[in-house]
Amino acid sequence: MSAVVSPKPITVPEFRAAKGRGPKLTVVTAYDYTSARLCDEAGVDALLVGDSLGMVIQGHPTSLPVTLEQMIYHTQCVMRGTRRALVIVDLPFLTYQVSPRQAVRNAGRLLKEGGAHAVKIEGGVRMQAAVRACVDAGIPVMGHIGLTPQAVHQLGGFKVQRDAENLLADAAAVEHAGAFAVVVESVPAELGAKITQEITIPTIGIGAGAGCDGQVLVFHDLLGLFPDFKPKFAKRYADLGTAVKTAVENYCREVREGSFPAAEHSFR
Ligand code: KIV
Repeated sequence: MSAVVSPKPITVPEFRAAKGRGPKLTVVTAYDYTSARLCDEAGVDALLVGDSLGMVIQGHPTSLPVTLEQMIYHTQCVMRGTRRALVIVDLPFLTYQVSPRQAVRNAGRLLKEGGAHAVKIEGGVRMQAAVRACVDAGIPVMGHIGLTPQAVHQLGGFKVQRDAENLLADAAAVEHAGAFAVVVESVPAELGAKITQEITIPTIGIGAGAGCDGQVLVFHDLLGLFPDFKPKFAKRYADLGTAVKTAVENYCREVREGSFPAAEHSFR
């Protein structure tokens, strides 16, 4: 059962109002029409067009090379497959950090050209002005604190973040700037729960324990589709990577031995 009791498209105020009401909010990344449609039909509350696509779609080691144009393209694909879920899109690296004006202009393009419902901005206290400027322009913003992958080099790698004082300040900063929810990534479970108790907007955890108001997983991690790396926090609900390889091996074998195409796959 969804946290948002509505068969109609889920709105930002409905998503926000689900905090503490239960059941918990569910978010999955999506980058294309087919995956968006499958997740939407499965009843997920929100789809995140994450810049993790730099890794799982494009094969880069980080999300840093992803461009705004690419995010707009993937958002358009996802929107065509979505009926009910709220669609939130990452502003990629260096499309909002320069100034709040830059943030508004580029976030606006994700809504105007991509069709997104909301954007996500990484960073807490330091990005408070950018979040505020977007919200003032009528653009709903989800914050992202803890391990912020666009700052991977500054953080010295994809590491668990443990500075409770700074993380609580970051959470408060995005809340006060008007964000409707916040992703909390890679923090100890007790800290994830404490942040959740201290702010009034939903916390969406990834590697932040069970105390958050909801969870987000990368589509490829959830389905066992990404061979390069399995984060400790990712649970594999299927092993589609193996299933895909077996299916393609079977196809190659049947073509080579001449048993595909059979009569039922041929025109007379
Ligand atoms: O880019 C992404 O997929 C994300 C999630 C991991 C939260 O930011």
